[in-house]
Amino acid sequence: TKEGYDHFMLKEIYQQPEAVRNTLNRRLDENGEVYLEGVHLTKEMIESFNKIYIVACGTAYHAGLIGKSVLEKALKITVIADVASEFRYNDNLIDEQTLVIVVSQSGETADTLASLREAKAKGARILSITNVVGSAVARESDDLLYTWAGPEIAVASTKAYTTQLIAFYMLALYFGKLKGSLDAHSYKEHVIELQSIDDSIEDTISQSMEIAKEIAEEIKEAPSLFYLGRGLDYYTALEASLKLKELSYIHAEAFAAGELKHGTIALIEEGTPVITLATQDDIYEKTVSNIKSVKARGAYAIGITTHKHKDMEQVCDKVIYINTTTSTYMPLISVILTQLIAYYTSIAKGNDVDKPRNLAKSVTVE
Ligand code: F6R
Repeated sequence: TKEGYDHFMLKEIYQQPEAVRNTLNRRLDENGEVYLEGVHLTKEMIESFNKIYIVACGTAYHAGLIGKSVLEKALKITVIADVASEFRYNDNLIDEQTLVIVVSQSGETADTLASLREAKAKGARILSITNVVGSAVARESDDLLYTWAGPEIAVASTKAYTTQLIAFYMLALYFGKLKGSLDAHSYKEHVIELQSIDDSIEDTISQSMEIAKEIAEEIKEAPSLFYLGRGLDYYTALEASLKLKELSYIHAEAFAAGELKHGTIALIEEGTPVITLATQDDIYEKTVSNIKSVKARGAYAIGITTHKHKDMEQVCDKVIYINTTTSTYMPLISVILTQLIAYYTSIAKGNDVDKPRNLAKSVTVE
């Protein structure tokens, strides 16, 4: 049941702190050590991999992009994220030295399952991140990391995504430690950061309600809209625009902020809403210069950043400040706001929030 919430989606957005807690807590012992029950990879096996593929569809793929970034950093090997409907038909260079990580909330998505089988046949080791215990993906994997999000009823994925991110963060810590590529000090710092992320998500939900409604009113009539970001913010932008599209039916695209000038900026007109995520400190200035260039072409610029970047107010029409954690974990915070923007825009347009048109929860067709 919706337990008093207007929609399953809103209930599931509110369940995220708990879902994240559940996904974390069963894997962290009292000394802050990560242990992953269903993952049987040894130090030798991890050292033997020369690349990792992450394969998934839609929102799960977007989680995989973040996973790529954090795993690459922790393991110092090449990680490639691909959409399952492409991966399965490509001549990928896969063998026994490849780890393939499959991400699927339902564990039944046709293209994802086919990719798993394809990679397995070529000798790859398969690790899956899934939310449904005993699902096809779970049954056919060598290693398994369940997200403990609980049942996700709304078609648009929310808590499955945030718990998939947690799974990737944990994998990066676990593998990095086993392999010795992550030093003990950073390991500890990451664990401490993760342990308080649920509270930060909780605060973000309550702090974002009113501003998300306000943004929804501002963008609901827009024929088209852009989400921009660099690095992890770009991956969050992809997820933010997918969520907005599927719920509001507004044409929304995400772009790597620096790529815009290579063509897409031609689409910016007077009043085009451009929402830029600028939470990654090391590339903050670069992102700001991209905002300036869309603003100069008439965009209605909305910036999402952390409190220390007050100078955003000089370049944007509107700035939304969100909770601060280290850059690595900002995707868990910023995505919450974008989920709420999509949710309230859907309501503002009178759409069916939990069952958007043309979509099904589980995509078992190819
Ligand atoms: C979007 C959404 C979809 C799914 C995709 C994969 O909100 O929910 O993009 O993420 O269909 O589904 P799973 O994770 O079940 O394989």
